[in-house]
Amino acid sequence: MYSFDGMRVLVVGGSSGIGLGTAKVAFEAGADVTIAGRSEERLAGAAKAIGGNVTTAVLDATDDAAVTDYFAGSGAWNHVAVTIGKGGRGLIQDLDMATAYAAMDAKFWPYFRIARAAEIVTGGSLTFVTGGLGQRPAPAASVLSAVNAAVEGLTRGLAIDFSPTRVNAVSPGAIDTPLWDQLSSDARKAHYERIEATLPAKRMGQPEDVGQAISMLMGNPFTTGVVLQVDGGSMLL
Ligand SMILES: NC(=O)c1ccc[n+]([C@@H]2O[C@H](COP(=O)([O-])OP(=O)(O)OC[C@H]3O[C@@H](n4cnc5c(N)ncnc54)[C@H](OP(=O)(O)O)[C@@H]3O)[C@@H](O)[C@H]2O)c1
Repeated sequence: MYSFDGMRVLVVGGSSGIGLGTAKVAFEAGADVTIAGRSEERLAGAAKAIGGNVTTAVLDATDDAAVTDYFAGSGAWNHVAVTIGKGGRGLIQDLDMATAYAAMDAKFWPYFRIARAAEIVTGGSLTFVTGGLGQRPAPAASVLSAVNAAVEGLTRGLAIDFSPTRVNAVSPGAIDTPLWDQLSSDARKAHYERIEATLPAKRMGQPEDVGQAISMLMGNPFTTGVVLQVDGGSMLL
């Protein structure tokens, strides 16, 4: 495990799921952690779950002015992780343009916006979260595939433009987070059982599995421009 003793680590999306798992891992590695999200209540719950002195910031990453203002006043960060994004499933003929734009607005543009605004110290890093669909499409997910592939392209481009700041991404497979609350409990159970039966790793991913991968990308000084799969071997199937 890398040590982040005294380092300032920001997790945008740190109030839930993969972001919360990332914040926990960074906190346990000694970082001075800030978690950002839209809901003050969720942030407070997450800070309690982490169980230590964590700073919270109410921030809507879809809001240009709010992001610019926040980073203008937040000072320089050692490591920034962005773990937000939602929506956009459906066959293209069933999706109206507003829904397709909304999927890009909820993920790609916030990542781009935060990358523009955040000040990261030399030797620091920026890490994004994409998703397996970015490389291997599934039925009725072409927009989600495009959003995640766009974030992967942004990752590689920024790794060059922001050098020597390192820019990486993790590409999670199925991770047990509140994102799956959209399914009924029966459908969720069946989905998890299918994953546990078929994946080479024979388990559902946990948020801390992705958090540990993100902490490796933050801490390893020779890794940049990488999209790291953390998917239990899903790409092998
Ligand atoms: N879970 C999986 O199986 C899985 C698999 C592949 C890829 N992914 C990707 O991983 C990312 C994180 O997923 P997750 O499962 O961790 O989701 P999650 O549990 O729903 O967490 C999303 C986090 O992002 C925050 N957030 C959402 N929109 C925001 C905004 N506009 N501004 C600031 N914060 C915002 C949420 O807080 P508020 O709502 O309070 O703002 C929450 O803290 C997503 O991009 C998802 O597509 C997930």
